[in-house]
Amino acid sequence: MTVAVVTGAGSGMGRACVDRLLGTVDDLIAVDLREPDIPGAVGVACDISNALALIGLVERVQDLGPFRSLAHAAGLSPTMADPRRIVDVNLLGTVRILDAFGPVVTTGSAAVCFASSAGYLPLELLGPELSQLIHDPRAEGFLDRAAALLSDPGMAYAWSKKGVQLEAAKAAVAWGPLGGRVVSLSPGLIDTPMGRQEFEHQPMMKPMLENTPLGRFGTADEIAAVVAFLLSDQASFVSGVDLLVDGALGAASVPPPS
Ligand SMILES: NC(=O)c1ccc[n+]([C@@H]2O[C@H](COP(=O)([O-])OP(=O)(O)OC[C@H]3O[C@@H](n4cnc5c(N)ncnc54)[C@H](O)[C@@H]3O)[C@@H](O)[C@H]2O)c1
Repeated sequence: MTVAVVTGAGSGMGRACVDRLLGTVDDLIAVDLREPDIPGAVGVACDISNALALIGLVERVQDLGPFRSLAHAAGLSPTMADPRRIVDVNLLGTVRILDAFGPVVTTGSAAVCFASSAGYLPLELLGPELSQLIHDPRAEGFLDRAAALLSDPGMAYAWSKKGVQLEAAKAAVAWGPLGGRVVSLSPGLIDTPMGRQEFEHQPMMKPMLENTPLGRFGTADEIAAVVAFLLSDQASFVSGVDLLVDGALGAASVPPPS
C-alpha cells in the first residue's frame, strides 16, 4: 500500500496533479482549505500553514500506508493576501510540511514543492537583510522580521518562492540518506484561476506572456505531467534541484553578454 498527498488539490495545478496521480498509488489524500470532493481521493480540509494540522495530516497518511509522494501545490499569489500571509503560507507552509513529513520518509518517498519562476529573482535585488534572512526560516521571529521588511506583496511572493527552492534543496539533503527525494518546480505563466487573476490585475503579466517564446500560457496538466514524472521511479536520481517549467520565458529574459 502506498500513499500520495496533493495540497492545493481543490483548484488549478493541484487538481491536475490529483488527476495525474490517481491510480499510481493505492491511496491519494487531496488537501485544501475546504475538503475537496474528488472521486477516488480522500478529501482532507487542512490549512498547510498550521503545523498542528499538518501533524494530523501525516497521521492520516500513516493510517493508510507508507508515504510515497507529496505534490505540494497550495500557495497564495500577490493579489490574494498581504506580504505576511504570503510568506506564512508559501515559505513557512513549505518548511512546516517538509518538517512534518520528514519522520515518515522511507525508500522511494518523493516530494515536489511548487515554487515559481518569480523565485529566480536575484537575491541581491532584495537587499542584504532579506538575502540573509531567507536562509533561516526556522529562526525565532522570522515571520515578524520578514513582514517588517516586505511591504510589497509581489516582492513577498518572489522572496517566498525563492525560499521554497532553497528549502526543497535542504530537505533533499536530509531525506537522501533515508532514500527520499525532494525537488522544487517553478512554473511560468500557467492557465489556472490564480494565473488568470494575476494576469488581470498585474500589468507586468501581459509583457511576460508576450515574451514567452512558446507564446501562450502553460496548462495545469502540462505541469502535472512533469510532477507525475518527478514523483515516479523514472526520476529516481533527480533530487535537490529546481525545475523551471516556463515555456522558455527565463531563457528569453537572459540579457546577451555585453
Ligand atoms: N498559476 C500560475 O501562473 C503560477 C505560476 C507560478 C507558480 N504558481 C504556484 O503554483 C501553485 C499552484 O497554483 P495554482 O495556479 O494552481 O493556484 P490556485 O489558486 O488555482 O490553487 C491553489 C489552491 O491552494 C489552496 N490553498 C491556498 N492556501 C492554502 C492553505 N493555507 N492551505 C491549504 N490550501 C491552500 C487554494 O484554496 C487553492 O485551491 C501555487 O503555489 C502557486 O504559487 C502558480
